[in-house]
Amino acid sequence: MEKRLAQLEKQSRELDPSLHEREALQTLALQYSNDFLDQQPDAPAYTSFNKTDVNKLLDDAISETGVLPDEAIRVFRDQVVPPGLNLTSGRHFGYIPGGGLSVSAVGDYLAAITNRYAGVYSSSPGAVALETRLVRWLAELFGFPESSGGYLSSGGSHANLTAIVTARDHAKLKAAHYSKAVVYITGQTHHCVARALNIAGMAECVKRYIPMDEQFRMMPDKLDEAIAGDQNEGLMPWLIVASAGSTDTGAVDPLSEISAISKKYGLWFHVDAAYGGFFMLTEQGKKLLSGIEECHSLVADPHKGLFLPYGTGVLLVRDVETLAWPHRFEASYMNDTRIDSGMYSPAEISPELSKHFRAVRMWLPLKIHGVAAFRAALEEKLLLAEYLWDRLNELNDIITGPKPQLSVVLFRWAADKDETVNDNLNKTLHKRILEDGRVFFSTTEIDGRFFLRAAILSSRTHLKEVEQLLSVLKELIGNINTERT
Ligand SMILES: Cc1ncc(COP(=O)(O)O)c(C=O)c1O
Repeated sequence: MEKRLAQLEKQSRELDPSLHEREALQTLALQYSNDFLDQQPDAPAYTSFNKTDVNKLLDDAISETGVLPDEAIRVFRDQVVPPGLNLTSGRHFGYIPGGGLSVSAVGDYLAAITNRYAGVYSSSPGAVALETRLVRWLAELFGFPESSGGYLSSGGSHANLTAIVTARDHAKLKAAHYSKAVVYITGQTHHCVARALNIAGMAECVKRYIPMDEQFRMMPDKLDEAIAGDQNEGLMPWLIVASAGSTDTGAVDPLSEISAISKKYGLWFHVDAAYGGFFMLTEQGKKLLSGIEECHSLVADPHKGLFLPYGTGVLLVRDVETLAWPHRFEASYMNDTRIDSGMYSPAEISPELSKHFRAVRMWLPLKIHGVAAFRAALEEKLLLAEYLWDRLNELNDIITGPKPQLSVVLFRWAADKDETVNDNLNKTLHKRILEDGRVFFSTTEIDGRFFLRAAILSSRTHLKEVEQLLSVLKELIGNINTERT
């Protein structure tokens, strides 16, 4: 047996490289990551791809003996990273960008190397205290009281799901009630909210779509009417979900007025601020999001508004006990973890037990850069959106959506009298944008019409990138116009 153990140990020790081997891999990874970042100013924002080529990765060997580090890095560099959207580019204006701060990547490295057990205080008190520190900083930012709490999730969808489940349990809704339980949303509410209801087993609950004003904001008087009507019908109004920055248009619902209605009828008031939340760091954002401090729960995404790499959302609740309730557990093997630490462990107030030491990727950039840099970057994005909207309005045949409340600019090329022809022209334009790759937009439909949208939220988007967007747009429109004549 000793002989076999020695053999196995020799082999398994390969999993723990020597200093020399570690340095060799670290040098390769660092060289690659520095080259990658240095190339960003000129790198494509989008690289068209061929499925057959990409899917060759499905045959990538996971061998018994492994490969040399440079071979592994080569596959990553040449096959994994290039195809599709370049989310690190400052010319990525699609969906909701973020950028991906390099300091955060170092935080992830430190988190993984030290591998603290971030779910439970008794195991890794420093890790839990660090997350709690961030949650308290966020609670202050959003004007939440001392009773509040929350956790760092993998993203906005996950945090919204937990919010829905928390609101459901707080309202003491049971399966027998679901078909009568009413949720108030708008046509701009992110789809992850309806998906969260499905996942929570509440697909059958009534989704009441409240009409919006011309700026795509929920109309409070219509909300009031709808709740009163539903109560009269014997339904169970239960939850209002407002957007603080909708994905399509960046609209911020009137939070104070909605809060007053939620109090009037005793409904849970949730704010999805996944996109818009961190604009609270700016004066303009604070005014626009006024009333958010009144809600029962809110979601914000540091991988959007704090420019972190993907993988970090936040759920905050006004009363942390409401979050503890759905996450309560009994397990004898956890008895020794229950110590009085003066704070909840993430495992007691969120679905994860073993969790990524997520706090470091958010803490390190905040700690090193300081809040002022984030505030400036967010104010810059708001101004850039206004600048872009103004420049687009100066162009012939471009119609814009409403003046951006935050940093999403909607626009549409309207060269023809016939709007159906315009839809097709915009689809062609979008296809050309993808083929060209210098800038990336995503698209949406507003009132049945095809729109392009530029969301400005990458840490790497500055005036130069917005000018590039405008010049590429003019050039590609010019090309299509030449082909049409
Ligand atoms: C308003 C809003 N809510 C929720 C989400 C979902 O967040 P995530 O992609 O982090 O799951 C998004 C994503 O763009 C969003 O814009």
